[in-house]
Amino acid sequence: MSENAHNTLLILNGPNLNLLGTREPETYGCVTLAEIEANSAEKAKAYGLTIDFRQTNLEGTLVDWLQEAESSAAGVIINAAAYTHTSVAIHDAIAAISKPVIEVHLSNIFAREAYRHHSYVSDVAEGVICGFGAHGYMLAIDALASMLRHQS
Ligand code: DQA
Repeated sequence: MSENAHNTLLILNGPNLNLLGTREPETYGCVTLAEIEANSAEKAKAYGLTIDFRQTNLEGTLVDWLQEAESSAAGVIINAAAYTHTSVAIHDAIAAISKPVIEVHLSNIFAREAYRHHSYVSDVAEGVICGFGAHGYMLAIDALASMLRHQS
């Protein structure tokens, strides 16, 4: 474990989330990913935690980062975006690590197209937060901070 791993939350964002703010605002809201990062950092700080906030459009990169979490983070928050609904590789990477993982979606995936109703992440996640927009990341930090507190 790296030195700061015990108080670091790894927050991973998948494809197209770099476009938040302008991407389908009626579905995803007007908040940018940079604003979510800033709000997440502030929220985590209140718990004495720091964040490592990342976004990629590449599935394999998400797999690499999940593997990295085993030694670099206390827990993971992931919005795998469209890969949520397709990626056995991301499912397997989460199953392979011992750190708690919380799944987040801005939109309520269950109120949308049928192909979004299944998640390869949910059954290996500690919990799922969806439908609360950018606030979902704050709820996930609350949940993870509480889990980590009870662990120690
Ligand atoms: C999303 C929901 C996914 O179905 C979609 O592919 C996304 C974003 C969300 O945050 O609501 O890209 O994960």
